[in-house]
Amino acid sequence: MNKIAVIGAGTMGNGIAHVFAQSGFSVTLIDVNENQLQKALQTIAKNLDRQVSKGTLTEDQKQKALANISTSQDVAQGVSNAELVVEAATENRTLKLEIFKKISEAAPADCILATNTSSISITQIAAATKKPELVIGMHFMNPVPVMKLVEIINGYATSKEVTEKIVELSKQLGKIPCVVNDYPGFIANRILMPMINEAICSLFEGVAGVNEIDTVMKLGMAHPMGPLQLADFIGLDVCLAILRVLHEGFGNPKYAPCPLLVNMVTAGKLGVKSGEGFYVYTPGSKELVVSKSFQ
Ligand code: CAA
Repeated sequence: MNKIAVIGAGTMGNGIAHVFAQSGFSVTLIDVNENQLQKALQTIAKNLDRQVSKGTLTEDQKQKALANISTSQDVAQGVSNAELVVEAATENRTLKLEIFKKISEAAPADCILATNTSSISITQIAAATKKPELVIGMHFMNPVPVMKLVEIINGYATSKEVTEKIVELSKQLGKIPCVVNDYPGFIANRILMPMINEAICSLFEGVAGVNEIDTVMKLGMAHPMGPLQLADFIGLDVCLAILRVLHEGFGNPKYAPCPLLVNMVTAGKLGVKSGEGFYVYTPGSKELVVSKSFQ
């Protein structure tokens, strides 16, 4: 397998294109928005530079990685000779179903169709395609070039051969694959999101402040980021959407999103991407400043 098409040039899409290109694969990065494509190429170059300055990559390897990436604004044309498509578009069920219907028609008949969804059912996405046995979840973690895990999710119909190929491919990317089955939130978010929600509920109920909650989890459990900082990093809208999938999928009130999370998303406080969540973010500054709403 050498020809990879990545759909969506946002944070996850550019990270996924980066790791495939760095491992010698030929990547077509697809997005309908040309600005987004240009921004993604700049981000990939910046992140490769970071690796060069750390001495983990040579300048020559960086140039080769960049040369492995081409771009396209046309989904059908971009996937037309792909051996694997990795979809990393916005986390929206209707949009993903449309994309999979389209790529199932436009990609070669034996092309594996993977989705980087963080919680939408692989089985449902597969049902929108002509060959559900070729559809699989390939869930990368942010920041993709750094995080070792690929959570591989078998849909109801995913063939054993496809799973084996994706496990092997993940290893070729220098990642550690972990195969799980298709139930709400899979494993990563079934466990991560209730923790984040509980941290938000603790803040909402006045048990402790933002710094205290994050410090307890960073220093007490050796987490690299506290749960509130991590929620800001992932995006509060994404956290809310995943909690809703868990709540709806299991029908259990324990997954109900905290009202504070719902309010923050409604107010447009989405975390790093909007400049404010539990903390405020100033471009170029690494200092963590708690949002005025929680001081
Ligand atoms: N590309 C390449 N390298 C990068 C990078 C990127 N985008 N971002 C960071 N790095 C590298 C840095 O160069 C640095 O390298 P060295 O160790 O060689 O020095 C290393 O990563 C650490 O980066 P920093 O020093 O800048 O910052 P840090 O030490 O604070 O670490 C972090 C940053 C890696 C993000 C760390 O805080 C962390 O691991 N946080 C938790 C991340 C996490 O949990 N991600 C999963 C989120 S859930 C998800 O993605 C899925 C979902 O469905 C919601």
